[in-house]
Amino acid sequence: MPENPKKFYLTTPIYYVNARPHIGHAYSTIVADVLARRHRLLGEDTFFLTGTDEHGQKVQRSAEAAGIPPQQFADQVSATFRDLWDRMGVTYDGYIRTTDERHKLGVQKLWKVLEESGDIYLSSYTGQYCVSDEAFVDVAVGAPCPECGRITETITEENYFFKLSAYQDKLTDLIESGKLHIQPDTVRNEVLSFVHGGLKDLSISRTTFDWGIRVPENPKHVVYVWLDALANYITAIGYGSDEAAEQANFARYWPADVHLVGKEITRFHCVYWPAFLMAAGLPVQKSVVANGWLLFEESKMSKSRGNVVRTETILDAFGEHYRTSLLKASQAEPEKRDCDLFAADVLRYFLLREIPFGQDGSFSFDALITRYNADLANGYGNLVSRVLKLIDSIGGVPEPGMDDEAAPIRRAADHSIASVSLAFAEYRFTSAATEIAALITAVDGMLTAVAPWKLLKSSEEAEQLRARTSLHTAVEAIRLITALAYPLMPHTTAKVWSQLGLGSLDQAAGRGELKNLTWGGLKPGTKLGAPGPIFPRADKGLAQIMSDMEQNRNAAVGAEQTEVNSGALTGSFLDVTTNPHEPSSKPESTTSEIPAEPTASGANPPLAPQITIDDFAKVDLRVARVLVAERIPKADKLLRLEVDLGFEKRQILAGIAEYYAPESLIGRKVVIVANLAPRKMRGLESNGMVVAASVGADGAPVLAGFAEDVELGARLK
Ligand code: MSP
Repeated sequence: MPENPKKFYLTTPIYYVNARPHIGHAYSTIVADVLARRHRLLGEDTFFLTGTDEHGQKVQRSAEAAGIPPQQFADQVSATFRDLWDRMGVTYDGYIRTTDERHKLGVQKLWKVLEESGDIYLSSYTGQYCVSDEAFVDVAVGAPCPECGRITETITEENYFFKLSAYQDKLTDLIESGKLHIQPDTVRNEVLSFVHGGLKDLSISRTTFDWGIRVPENPKHVVYVWLDALANYITAIGYGSDEAAEQANFARYWPADVHLVGKEITRFHCVYWPAFLMAAGLPVQKSVVANGWLLFEESKMSKSRGNVVRTETILDAFGEHYRTSLLKASQAEPEKRDCDLFAADVLRYFLLREIPFGQDGSFSFDALITRYNADLANGYGNLVSRVLKLIDSIGGVPEPGMDDEAAPIRRAADHSIASVSLAFAEYRFTSAATEIAALITAVDGMLTAVAPWKLLKSSEEAEQLRARTSLHTAVEAIRLITALAYPLMPHTTAKVWSQLGLGSLDQAAGRGELKNLTWGGLKPGTKLGAPGPIFPRADKGLAQIMSDMEQNRNAAVGAEQTEVNSGALTGSFLDVTTNPHEPSSKPESTTSEIPAEPTASGANPPLAPQITIDDFAKVDLRVARVLVAERIPKADKLLRLEVDLGFEKRQILAGIAEYYAPESLIGRKVVIVANLAPRKMRGLESNGMVVAASVGADGAPVLAGFAEDVELGARLK
């Protein structure tokens, strides 16, 4: 790194701890990691911050529903986020939790500064509050929130207010002048029209609950959760600290270069946050860059719709695919870390290649497999393995040879280097990936035309030379492709790099060797590293496996471990209503959303919306006896049961393997949903579902049974 490198401070939104992470959250974090790696390789002193947003009524209610104190609840969920980022190899430099002491002190300091600047006053207010969005909204009593459609609550409170109205002109100037860059334009325009529409003063304290940071000198009030949350961007890097090192850190990194945010939270970042900063006499962040939403079956993937896909599903399934493929290819068994990072790269590539950044995009397991096979297995992976095998057969990287033959690829590579660099700088990740793919196609085309595998068999020197030239050209292009793709797929590109005999890609990036890429870096005679499959082709069945795993996590293990629809019962069988593969037929909740976490200590989630007796009659619940219970190889959570209904026997797969030893179930009477459509999991058909209550903080299943002896096949009504 140069003496005084340029700094780059980048943030993700901090995630609410009322829901466990899904791939919508992973999306923001992945984009941030790609950017952080890109800026680091450019030699910039990069600080990448992420963390969790842990205060507010929503979190308090989730903790109550789970029956545990909010701090304990926040500790648990925050750890699941952090563990997931670690599992995916996300290179965050700072992890802030709004319950951190340093954050609380920083927020209180900010509050005092705002008070001293005369921007805070105390007043009484009655308004409609949306608990889900943690914001007052301008609607009639009982009306739904215009943002999320959930019913608002009427709240009258003595509140502290922030004089947002006084910042209208300054905000307009800030945005119009581009001093605050907002991307994409659609978001910028929305924000501007919101500001032009007139700004009302903003309520910034609450007295109706206490899960928050106390207002200094008036502890009856807690600080509004968005003021608390936004301040993470400064408290994490030292604002409010008395320590000189922390203060120096703040002076070094603030203002942030980029706040990456989802498109629905741009108002908070582009209006409230700059106004707070201006009022506190601090510089405003340089840019706010918004991502669109990941949709699943046409609606936003979200905990409240129950249509989430968990990142763990993809990591588990693709990781296992990688492991078994390596074993099949007689390679050494990879470490779990290797499998996780491979799978994380697949997800990274898919999300950034498939969805033009800034727009909404659909996620599906089928699309994931199709894209993986097309671009990574058949494209990049296949090119690398073909070329490296041929190069190995001739004892190492050949001399460059005839320049004319190499020229078109060299030109294509120069073009790719420039355009990929620009694409990253403009957040056009899809273009970066397609530029890289175009270079792969060009090299493939050149190889097909030259056919070095044939020419190498010839005894003519000219043909040998041509073959060697084409291989030199191809392997040099692979080096550049690999360097360009590094921020997108840091782990697999590092493997290719070492197979090229170039050592550690991370270290090369750290030394600035990926910054100014030019043709010709691969020295003739370079000995290749150990070969090995990079992207083993995936069978379409992997999509079904992931879909089953997702279903299984949701349905069989009981209460949603992410979070389920407001009012959804947590009992296992009713969780079929939260099947992520079927859009919820329920309207958005009719009361302000109270997330149903697994129950503990007798705290129950709210009731599901009413159904008629006819709705209930559709579900055929029967008594059955377990005849056979056994584990399913490589499915940690599933048991295969054979049950006797009296009038027939059938096979059912149940996600209870972590909680019940198979032998303890044999002979036991259970309740099953007997008319559930059959479905395949792990290649086995499941004909029904075993009913269980979901208990404790982890939603452990407890099988339903009877105190009296009940005959087999009896129906529950
Ligand atoms: N806690 C606030 C942010 C405070 S920042 C000072 C919050 N948290 S959140 O957990 O609800 O959302 C965090 C981020 O995840 C947001 O940027 C949001 O857009 C993103 N996503 C949540 N679901 C998503 C999708 N389905 N798709 C893409 N991003 C999504 O808001």
